[in-house]
Amino acid sequence: MAEVVIVPTAQEAGGLVADAIAGLIARRPDAVLGLATGSTPLPVYDALRVRLAGADLSRVRGFALDEYVGLDPSHPESYRSVISREVVGPLGLDPALVRVPDGALEGIEHAGEDYEAEIEAVGGIDLQILGIGTDGHIGFNEPGSSFASTTRVKTLTEQTRRDNARFFASIDDVPMHCITQGLGTILRARHLVLLAFGEGKADAVAAAVEGPVSASLPGSAIQLHPHVTVVVDEAAARGLAHADYYRYTYANKPAWQGL
Ligand code: PGA
Repeated sequence: MAEVVIVPTAQEAGGLVADAIAGLIARRPDAVLGLATGSTPLPVYDALRVRLAGADLSRVRGFALDEYVGLDPSHPESYRSVISREVVGPLGLDPALVRVPDGALEGIEHAGEDYEAEIEAVGGIDLQILGIGTDGHIGFNEPGSSFASTTRVKTLTEQTRRDNARFFASIDDVPMHCITQGLGTILRARHLVLLAFGEGKADAVAAAVEGPVSASLPGSAIQLHPHVTVVVDEAAARGLAHADYYRYTYANKPAWQGL
């Protein structure tokens, strides 16, 4: 099952995950990172700025999880813009090596397949950063998504559109459709790191980590993966039945294991 690490603050979580990513890049200078957007991964990117200062990142690759369909890439809330602003620019990655699914309407029928081919061509994703939606989605795989799914167009739930309305002038401006790596794509990454902060995520975290494995709760797909690290703050851990055991395990973790 997933390793669950409960930390006091999002900032501490960001530091832990940034250490793991910096270690990966040190071992593998052409590491392939799976990048998430939204509020959750920001402490990781903040910490990475410090951890990776001065490192040679010229061969590091990145693949974003998802993108809105039909939103101009130059729109400030397109995930292309967000990834450029929050990750590529601050870390100094090569923009040509950081890919985001193409949400343009023209060619959308084959954009998913093209993205899968790009991921495959570089040998797959080494470490995938994940947030989780209040409805249990990972990437934009909404409830009902197949565990075998690959990158494709999905319809956002009303709940997700409401959750993301804070980034737009109103909910009406939140696109209806997205293109997202599938659960099958995510499960092929070699290490999954799921982060969640705040009480609003507690139910989704408990269901993903300890609930039944079900397409109705897409985050539960992580239970099928051999190497998953879940990093949560106390509020997001509130619904976990085995929280004490996770704390005990982490406190007694052999130093050689790493995340
Ligand atoms: P958030 O989104 O990080 O902005 O809460 C998480 C998600 O929807 O996957």
